[in-house]
Amino acid sequence: MKTWLITGCSSGFGQRLALAAAERGDQVVATARSVKTIEDMAEPFDGRMITVPLDVTDAAAAKAAVAKAVETFGGFDVLVNNAGYGLHGAIEEGTSDEYRPMFEVNLFGLIEATRAALPVMRRSGGAIVNMSSVAGISGGGGGGYYNAAKFAVEGISEALASELKPFGIRVLIVEPGPFRTDFLGRSITVAANEMPEYAGTSRRHYRETNNGNQAGDPDKAIAVILRAVDDDDAPLHLPLGPVAHAAAERKLAAFRSDIDAWHDITIATDFDPPGTRVASSDRTSTSTGQRP
Ligand SMILES: NC(=O)c1ccc[n+]([C@@H]2O[C@H](COP(=O)([O-])OP(=O)(O)OC[C@H]3O[C@@H](n4cnc5c(N)ncnc54)[C@H](OP(=O)(O)O)[C@@H]3O)[C@@H](O)[C@H]2O)c1
Repeated sequence: MKTWLITGCSSGFGQRLALAAAERGDQVVATARSVKTIEDMAEPFDGRMITVPLDVTDAAAAKAAVAKAVETFGGFDVLVNNAGYGLHGAIEEGTSDEYRPMFEVNLFGLIEATRAALPVMRRSGGAIVNMSSVAGISGGGGGGYYNAAKFAVEGISEALASELKPFGIRVLIVEPGPFRTDFLGRSITVAANEMPEYAGTSRRHYRETNNGNQAGDPDKAIAVILRAVDDDDAPLHLPLGPVAHAAAERKLAAFRSDIDAWHDITIATDFDPPGTRVASSDRTSTSTGQRP
């Protein structure tokens, strides 16, 4: 039996994962910034699920949620950093009032929850599941701020994977393509400052045309996450669905092409080995042999 602490359980992946874990017999600390929205979730599970308030932008609340998990279940071995939302609009359209709060949730919230959890998890081992996105695989017009936040999630997750291996803690980076949760409904904000110059790239109307039509089935995503948490050999990166896989393939091919195209130019930047260097005094000496 595993014990989970999951952020953002009021809807979508977080809620489905909390329910699926409890339904198979695990213990779950389900959290939401408004705990009222999840109060009823725990009822069917005979004390195996508790609901705890956690706005991930509040580091003290993350510590309190961890303390509650320890008090109730003696600790936990799976942390799921799921809470997040998107911001669409061109970089020039976005304002700091819009992008900074998005980083506070998607990146700094994940960091605070992780830092709160690690003193407990280093004792038990386990897994940290970080919700990235197809947007964390490759950047594209209209999603730049969200790309930046999810790329940062990828970077810190890769670093954590290496740091936490000695403690028996695995890291899983979940990279979903479009899945039918509330994400494109209420969890996307759009830059208020509309600039006609970016009409072709700002993704301003993406959510209106795509909400409800996403091909991804969140329950199938949850099944993959459960399987990966159970499997010690699961890979670090989990692109979910054909859209994420196609993005990963394009990214790998483009990266390969860039690396190869200027290989000889970009690789030749180390200091010359001792003894092989042409002294700068030789290169700059005058015909009289004296330095200029
Ligand atoms: N669905 C997709 O297509 C998709 C694709 C790629 C990545 N993702 C990622 O998947 C994760 C979950 O999204 P979802 O698809 O399940 O969408 P969702 O149904 O809209 O769920 C988002 C959750 O994040 C919570 N949240 C937002 N700000 C929070 C905060 N400050 N503190 C705590 N919780 C907060 C929301 O809670 P409130 O009810 O309080 O707002 C909600 O429970 C996100 O990280 C998202 O970036 C989703």
